[in-house]
Amino acid sequence: MRIDVLTLFPEIFHSYLGQSVLKKAIERGLVEIHLHNIRDWSHDKKHHKVDDRPFGGGPGMVLMAPPVVECVEAVQAMANEPGHLVMLTPQGRKLNQAVVEELAQHPRLLLLCGRYEGFDERIRLILKPDEISIGDYVLNGGEVAAMVVIDAVIRLVPGVLGDEESSRQDSFSGPDRLLDHAQYTRPRCYRGYEVPAVLLSGNHRAIERWRLMDRRRRTEERRRDLLEGSTTLRLGESTRDEKVSKNSLGKCGDAGTCPESSATESRKESEKGCQA
Ligand code: ADE
Repeated sequence: MRIDVLTLFPEIFHSYLGQSVLKKAIERGLVEIHLHNIRDWSHDKKHHKVDDRPFGGGPGMVLMAPPVVECVEAVQAMANEPGHLVMLTPQGRKLNQAVVEELAQHPRLLLLCGRYEGFDERIRLILKPDEISIGDYVLNGGEVAAMVVIDAVIRLVPGVLGDEESSRQDSFSGPDRLLDHAQYTRPRCYRGYEVPAVLLSGNHRAIERWRLMDRRRRTEERRRDLLEGSTTLRLGESTRDEKVSKNSLGKCGDAGTCPESSATESRKESEKGCQA
């Protein structure tokens, strides 16, 4: 996948692009990221100005249409196909995992980052971008939002995570878009909290059942809004048949007596179980 970022501050991306998952994806040729400075398309050859005061008055500066439109057109022409143009703006449709999946289908994305008080309206009218917001709050510019889009999208590019299953099992993913289930690792017992016994049982069907019920319960408790679109759980028909109550996340007695409360637990100890 190729991603072109159009910004006034390309340097903001440098350390982010050097981080592990993305860096490896770039090195392995799975993802290409190209940064473009909108200022390079300024008509003002002396000061490279790209913004001006709003007509009609008001605070702040507005990004001018000519450098932005011409930058987008020039970048579109840099590859065989123009790509899918995304404008990062708080007025766009809200980013969620379904939108991320949709964006990940495109072999090329252009991410247009704004600054100042916004874009001249003619940029939107001429370029007809897919306007995306990362949430109902206003950032100082689209750069952080563009990094959020890149980070979420590249997880879905085949090969990037190594294990294809891990992105399919994420919260909000899969047909039901539920929150992910609780995860545990060693030690088996920590400060009185024990790992649910079923996860240690080796019974894969029982583990899968427990995980599904935990996903449903967590989603119902935290994000009932997500259940409205769910095919496996409608509102009200919760975890009736197979309760995964808070109590089933076993308490294993006080931390002082817990044989596995230290990170250096031995295998033998982990087989002994938690003493209540
Ligand atoms: N630019 C400023 N605020 C933003 C937001 N919430 N989402 C996307 N781009 C933005």
